[in-house]
Amino acid sequence: MVTFFSLLYTFLFVLFVYLHSSSATTNYNVLSFGAKGDGVTDSTQAFINAWAAACGSTESTTIYVPKGMYLLGSVAFKGDCKSSDITILIDGTLVSPLDYGVLGEADNWLSFEGVNGVSIVGGTLDANGSALWSCKAAGSNCPNGATTLSFTNSNNIRINGVSSLNSQMFHIVINGCQDVCIKKVNVTAASDSPNTDGIHVQFSQNVMIMNSSIKTGDDCISIGPGTKNLWIESITCGPGHGISIGSLGKEMDEQGVQNVTVQKTIFTGTQNGLRIKSWARPSNGFVQGVRFINATMQNVQYPIVIDQNYCPHNLNCPGQVSGVKISDVMYQDIRGTSATAVAIKFDCSTKYPCTGIRLQNVNLTYLNQVAESSCNNVIGKTFGLVKPNSCL
Ligand SMILES: *[C@@H]1O[C@H](CO)[C@@H](O)[C@H](O)[C@H]1NC(C)=O
Ligand SMILES: *[C@@H]1O[C@H](CO)[C@@H](O)[C@H](O)[C@H]1NC(C)=O
Ligand SMILES: *[C@@H]1O[C@H](CO)[C@@H](O)[C@H](O)[C@H]1NC(C)=O
Ligand SMILES: *[C@@H]1O[C@H](CO)[C@@H](O)[C@H](O)[C@H]1NC(C)=O
Ligand SMILES: *[C@@H]1O[C@H](CO)[C@@H](O)[C@H](O)[C@H]1NC(C)=O
Ligand SMILES: *[C@@H]1O[C@H](CO)[C@@H](O)[C@H](O)[C@H]1NC(C)=O
Repeated sequence: MVTFFSLLYTFLFVLFVYLHSSSATTNYNVLSFGAKGDGVTDSTQAFINAWAAACGSTESTTIYVPKGMYLLGSVAFKGDCKSSDITILIDGTLVSPLDYGVLGEADNWLSFEGVNGVSIVGGTLDANGSALWSCKAAGSNCPNGATTLSFTNSNNIRINGVSSLNSQMFHIVINGCQDVCIKKVNVTAASDSPNTDGIHVQFSQNVMIMNSSIKTGDDCISIGPGTKNLWIESITCGPGHGISIGSLGKEMDEQGVQNVTVQKTIFTGTQNGLRIKSWARPSNGFVQGVRFINATMQNVQYPIVIDQNYCPHNLNCPGQVSGVKISDVMYQDIRGTSATAVAIKFDCSTKYPCTGIRLQNVNLTYLNQVAESSCNNVIGKTFGLVKPNSCL
């Protein structure tokens, strides 16, 4: 009997919670704001109006985008909203205007600014960037291009199950945000597409990026100044330029990067695996407390690399050294194949050597042979098996 009644109570309680929570969510379907899923009608204003309605509501709200193709120009979704729980649930595909110049002159395609408690769930964002990439490859006078999805000065953000296809520039940017969770994101762009970083994080705290697949022409994930408490887990990367902290130290006054964990990553045919990179210029920036754990490299050109001598085209830095101080960086359980002989390369600042570098259980091969390592201005230790033989 006790069990029966407790089951009954549990059932009633669950029912109550269900009814209660579902009745407190207001739904806004973009179709009722005039959006058309035909791929040709401009739905920008409809999305702006749906956002205004959700943003002005005092309740939890969902903006629903049904199946179909929605043509959208550059849209800014702005706070301060009354609602602190807005879900944009997308079953359809958002497509950009045919003329790449329309987005190309904007910084962002879809930007969220100063919002709190926004989730984007599902959907495909197709920026159709290939015509702009071709323009850039031809060296013509082309616009810069837009980031596909950007969050600025926002808190409590979730991006879940979103696919981003062929961005003009970066796919996803998290800038000046706190408490961000990115899961099951699928980024796809050509391996030679310029500046199409998968996810870029800067000036942000408590950011998590998990269970995502990134195939693109630039960094899979790039980490800029002012990043603190970043957790990256279960990412497949490639093609692309790997996971990169930097470029840092371009400016004299720069916030540091601290407490970054990258674990369970698989790199396939990428330019870099795990990279830290800074300009060869004076700066008070720093990198402190990084854990690279459990990575598999498959034919990666530079699996483990610290490069503090970045100076593209030898402009504005010849003869200078990086001021960025790199300390407390651990590489643990890193295995697989390098596409070049030097699988581990630490090229640190002559003025501020890298310190507290740890290598533990590393096994990287090149053409079925033990690979090589190269060290400049680096201080650290090895633990367990480390192949290639460490130069620390
Ligand atoms: C992408 O752009 C090209 C022209 O650059 C156009 O032919 C094609 O239809 C566009 N695709 C979509 C899905 O809009
Ligand atoms: C990711 O997107 C690409 C391109 O749309 C698609 O081919 C692939 O199946 C997607 N992968 C996943 C895991 O959804
Ligand atoms: C990530 O994927 C793994 C395996 O598919 C799963 O066990 C785990 O719960 C997922 N994590 C998140 C946060 O979705
Ligand atoms: C480092 O960041 C993780 C989240 O990525 C957090 O759980 C942990 O508390 C942080 N550690 C410190 C010392 O702040
Ligand atoms: C490393 O990650 C793989 C998945 O990518 C997992 O199966 C394995 O258990 C992990 N190993 C360790 C030592 O954490
Ligand atoms: C290192 O990796 C190679 C290739 O995967 C493998 O054959 C070799 O046994 C590994 N060495 C150790 C000591 O684990």
